[in-house]
Amino acid sequence: MANIALLLGLEKSQVTLHEVLSGTANVSEAVYEGPGGVKVVPCGISLQGFQNSDPEKLQEVMVDLVEGRDFILIDAPAGISKDGVIPLAIADQVLLVVNPELSSMADALKTKVLTEMLGGNIGGALLNRAGMERTEINKQKVAELLGVTVLEMIPEDANIRRSAAFKMPIVIKSPTSPAAVAYKRLASQFTGTSFIEPDNGSEEPIEGFVGRLTKVLFGAK
Ligand SMILES: Nc1ncnc2c1ncn2[C@@H]1O[C@H](COP(=O)(O)OP(=O)(O)OP(=O)(O)O)[C@@H](O)[C@H]1O
Ligand SMILES: [Mg+2]
Repeated sequence: MANIALLLGLEKSQVTLHEVLSGTANVSEAVYEGPGGVKVVPCGISLQGFQNSDPEKLQEVMVDLVEGRDFILIDAPAGISKDGVIPLAIADQVLLVVNPELSSMADALKTKVLTEMLGGNIGGALLNRAGMERTEINKQKVAELLGVTVLEMIPEDANIRRSAAFKMPIVIKSPTSPAAVAYKRLASQFTGTSFIEPDNGSEEPIEGFVGRLTKVLFGAK
């Protein structure tokens, strides 16, 4: 039930991963320009398209896609159906996304065991929708229960829903929001680029690149 096409306004795309996995299109035809230089291969939103797809084709599609890319993120569904299991086996690293709830932890543990059974590799976990209550499942608990490194905690943040309503990624719509900052910190762990924590304590608005450039070119106002 991948919905990235809806979230990025690509829902009218004629050729999607479903057409590629049903053998009626080449993957190069299903690559669309997304925000911030990201390329997106959306799934279709029709049930028929999903039914016609053969998840086993994903591995050969990946071989074609990997050429010339820095990173490929596969948004895999939860569960143990074929379409959920194949990404676990073919990815270099599997990231477990967990909510601070026991049922989510149990699912993540099953996914971890399944990944290992398939010869896959767990890269770590993300604790999403993390809250502040003391009773809640925290970073350390997740690490203990799952036996994996918790790479980042993404806080509960209404900006996630707000940016989805605008069909924009949160890091573009609300770049200084708590969840966006956490996602950028997470991304910097993979890209190796340095990440500067914004000083949200200050009253001053955070100056963007354009603002800094304007100052350099035209002097401070
Ligand atoms: N950190 C967060 N703060 C607030 N809301 C969030 C956060 N993360 C996700 N949500 C909301 O939770 C809902 C489910 O999120 P999402 O679609 O990412 O989950 P999922 O596990 O991928 O679901 P699915 O199993 O359907 O793929 C969405 O409405 C999203 O806006
Ligand atoms: Mg999802």
